[in-house]
Amino acid sequence: MRFLAPTLSIIGTAALVACVSAADGGANTISESSIIPGAYIVEVETDQDPTALYQELELEGISVDARRDLQFRLFRGGSFQLRNTSSSAAENDAQAQRVLQKSNVKNVWPVRAIQFPKPTLVSVRNGSAAGDGGMARRDSHRRQSGDNDTYAPHVITQVDQLHAAGFTGKGVKIGIVDTGVDYTHPALGGCFGPGCVVSYGYDLTGDNYWAGLAPVPDSDPYDNCQGHGTHVAGIVAAQSIEATRRLGFAGAAPDVTLGMYKISGCPGYTTSEMLLAGFNMAYEDGSDVISCSAGDDSGWAGDAAAVMAARIVDAGVPVVVALGNSGALGLWQAASPASGEGVTAAGSVDSPLLPTLVNAASYSIGNGTAGTLAWQDGAPEFANVTLPVLFLDSTNLTRTDAACDPLPTDTPDLSTSLVLLGLSTTCSSNQQVKNLVDIGAKNVMFYSLTTGSAGFNSLRITFNLDVGLSGVGLITLDQAQTLAEARNKNKTVTVAITNAAYAEPAAINFPNTLSGGHVSTFSSWGPTWETLLKPQIAAPGGNILSTYIDGAYAVMSGTSMATPLAAAVIALVIQARGTHDPTTINSVVAATAQRTTWYNGTAVDDTRVAPAAQQGGGLVQAYAAARTPVLLSVTSLSFNDSDHFPGPQTFRVSHVGPSMDSVDLVLGHVPAITMNTLKDNGDGTTSRSQFPNPIVNDAAATLSFDVPGGNLTVPPGGSVDITVTLTPPPGVNATLLPVYSGYITLEGAAVNLSLPYVGVAGSFAATPAVQRGYAAGCYLTTTEGHFNIPAPSNQTFTIPGPGSNSTSSTIYPRIIVRPTMGTPLLRLDVVSASGTSSNSTTDFMGVPSLGMLPGMPVEFVAGLGFAIYVNGTLNDGTVVPAGAYKVVVSAVKIFGDKNKEKDWTMVETVPFVIAYK
Ligand SMILES: *[C@@H]1O[C@H](CO)[C@@H](O)[C@H](O)[C@H]1NC(C)=O
Ligand SMILES: *[C@@H]1O[C@H](CO)[C@@H](O)[C@H](O)[C@H]1NC(C)=O
Ligand SMILES: *[C@@H]1O[C@H](CO)[C@@H](O)[C@H](O)[C@H]1NC(C)=O
Ligand SMILES: *[C@@H]1O[C@H](CO)[C@@H](O)[C@H](O)[C@H]1NC(C)=O
Ligand SMILES: *[C@@H]1O[C@H](CO)[C@@H](O)[C@H](O)[C@H]1NC(C)=O
Ligand SMILES: *[C@@H]1O[C@H](CO)[C@@H](O)[C@H](O)[C@H]1NC(C)=O
Ligand SMILES: *[C@@H]1O[C@H](CO)[C@@H](O)[C@H](O)[C@H]1NC(C)=O
Repeated sequence: MRFLAPTLSIIGTAALVACVSAADGGANTISESSIIPGAYIVEVETDQDPTALYQELELEGISVDARRDLQFRLFRGGSFQLRNTSSSAAENDAQAQRVLQKSNVKNVWPVRAIQFPKPTLVSVRNGSAAGDGGMARRDSHRRQSGDNDTYAPHVITQVDQLHAAGFTGKGVKIGIVDTGVDYTHPALGGCFGPGCVVSYGYDLTGDNYWAGLAPVPDSDPYDNCQGHGTHVAGIVAAQSIEATRRLGFAGAAPDVTLGMYKISGCPGYTTSEMLLAGFNMAYEDGSDVISCSAGDDSGWAGDAAAVMAARIVDAGVPVVVALGNSGALGLWQAASPASGEGVTAAGSVDSPLLPTLVNAASYSIGNGTAGTLAWQDGAPEFANVTLPVLFLDSTNLTRTDAACDPLPTDTPDLSTSLVLLGLSTTCSSNQQVKNLVDIGAKNVMFYSLTTGSAGFNSLRITFNLDVGLSGVGLITLDQAQTLAEARNKNKTVTVAITNAAYAEPAAINFPNTLSGGHVSTFSSWGPTWETLLKPQIAAPGGNILSTYIDGAYAVMSGTSMATPLAAAVIALVIQARGTHDPTTINSVVAATAQRTTWYNGTAVDDTRVAPAAQQGGGLVQAYAAARTPVLLSVTSLSFNDSDHFPGPQTFRVSHVGPSMDSVDLVLGHVPAITMNTLKDNGDGTTSRSQFPNPIVNDAAATLSFDVPGGNLTVPPGGSVDITVTLTPPPGVNATLLPVYSGYITLEGAAVNLSLPYVGVAGSFAATPAVQRGYAAGCYLTTTEGHFNIPAPSNQTFTIPGPGSNSTSSTIYPRIIVRPTMGTPLLRLDVVSASGTSSNSTTDFMGVPSLGMLPGMPVEFVAGLGFAIYVNGTLNDGTVVPAGAYKVVVSAVKIFGDKNKEKDWTMVETVPFVIAYK
């Protein structure tokens, strides 16, 4: 039985607020979560009925209203709302505890609200509404045979090789739990139902679903307002149509049968009930793999959705979930439900491409149509025009000062041409345009003189309408060169431009020469607080072009984008291997993945392997995963911290064929970078480091194997057990909790496998769970100002008495609490500063507690921290009399036992005085 009540945002009017924001400013955060007061998910025994339970509860004085029926093959229960929902989380949880104590109840969880991100669009362009004539059925959009997949994110993941071998996902069902889909999009088949690309699914919420509103479910997962799910769906299954070919992208598994489970309305609001129901519906509808790009940053594995995902994996269906976009926070930030055991957590690598969506024009050379010109609109906007191109200087395209000086008066008539010239780096574009207009130019196309995206992306060239120009735009130097080559063969080059509002979208796919193929800086890091390795694999998720609502296309970034690509790879592997057994699938995708080298956000270091806690096995390799004849029994090894060091660990190497030849393998070890979790604040305290966590040089674990000479032969149908003995890196500063990792490699002629491992060269028990002080993040401040400056000792706070209203000028004491790591249990007790009080005290581990602050205790705290006001009221409603107090912050260490005093850390604030008005 399990009862998890992380009560962080329950009480009243934002009395608890996060004090450390997700460092990425929220733009990259896949979702935020909070607890819905008084709402719980209950799981009952298989032969029980939640309605009967609710009636029983009514008789016992606990009145509840059913929220949602949750009756599935793998889950029997429902969710309910306490009719007398209290503003005290503790009171609600006390009622829920009584529900849990009933013999027919297996589990009770609080309902969490989760927010899908409002997509942060790098760029979005509308496609033509008609598309390819709006043709609906899949067969009309089949990839043309011999049409090679050259899409760079597919090439670096070997998806192109599986496509070339004929595997496109046919016959495999992917269920996606997300915000729904615009299936009318021409690249997504245009229809919903059997035979369509999106052929099954459900709308669990309706379009207006939001906190407090009842869901209005129906059988149609259509979304034309949120957008996230449409982007996700295209990554899996965008069809090869004229528009996607022009844009240069494709779905990774275009022939899969796609199921969409819409768990949010337009505002992107969902709950853990909806996730749980969506997972179950996707499972019951026969999905071979389930993909979900939502979660919260808790880093613990016990929430309802994580438990459900793990249960579906146990029942035989792989579940792929985004690990989160909190990479900026560094190590130990695995999101739930990706944190679930057996769940395939996906991290993100940056795409080798930096696509920029612009407009398509067509150009012709001589009298044949030659191709598409991708141009960025400026102001004034071009009308619909077809004009011959006039090169201001086609012999020297890299000239940086074209038209910087007045043009010769014998310059040919410019008014009937599209004047093409480089955007000067020596004079202003105003100067260039003035000189051109002076001799009659009307339409001007600049090209960027810098290569790559830097000189292009942010450039929208604008002029006041009164300069006399009709239209202006920008192309790349590459495109200008193509046109110039034709021109230099004495061919006339003509460009037909459609006004930007009507133009078809085109993409300029700049190469990402800096970080392409390396882990995205936004991609969240593992391991989980239990030191389980997360993620399992990484896939391209940074700068991904895909379909968007209303027939549009958009570029988005996130582990939300990596996840459907990973799910599509798994679908291809399922088709190729003929099994969707999660143990096999997780083993082959993780073991064949390609290790990436370290990218610290500004530079790549090709001499060092990125930590396994950042990349898992590495960048997924679809072809190798589909073809490997050798399986490993585990996807990773964890060596915990030094107190829980497990000693030698054994894994099995099995030859499952189909080849009947033995496989010879050589064992090896590739260490990855070791990094410190904590930094020394220089005042006797430590606190969490953020990305990039400090590297500990020359700090690799050493490994030995019980295999003589490190060579092994695995016969067909046979297996070999390997025991590995690990020695953690010596000479490190254990108080900073260095996280070491690496890869056990098994290399043969045609098989290259690796097994990632992770461990902590320090002790959780020796690490204080909370530490006192400003740098350490546990101290008293006030509600005055915005900088959370520590308050001095004995400051008097004159606050409204119980029952009276506060005014905006009231200054309250405020406690900032940032646990050193995650903590399984945290509480804030109020004690008398003088040691005497007229109120009675309770002993808590030697602390004479007057009671806990409202909302306490809190379970499964993620380690980000929060702030809590003190207004004199305790969590049981008692009000402390005026007087001097301190707050004792107590937290349990990771792997600690809450019943043992030694497993708690306690710190206290400076004293403060409460007076009532
Ligand atoms: C596809 O790739 C193969 C192998 O590289 C090549 O032989 C073939 O010509 C290509 N087909 C097309 C349509 O480009
Ligand atoms: C293109 O134009 C040339 C010269 O005007 C002409 O000789 C040729 O037949 C034309 N070709 C086509 C395909 O129309
Ligand atoms: C420009 O072309 C588009 C697409 O062909 C058309 O819909 C639009 O009406 C045209 N605009 C004008 C002003 O002719
Ligand atoms: C082309 O222009 C660049 C920059 O204006 C100049 O440095 C270079 O000498 C020119 N090349 C030729 C062949 O004129
Ligand atoms: C292009 O035309 C010019 C002038 O008419 C001529 O000198 C040159 O040889 C021609 N070039 C080609 C490639 O035909
Ligand atoms: C990344 O590495 C480069 C090269 O070693 C270094 O100059 C830079 O400061 C590093 N950046 C960060 C954020 O650590
Ligand atoms: C292990 O195998 C490798 C490659 O097959 C070979 O070069 C090496 O000699 C072998 N080592 C032993 C101890 O057998």
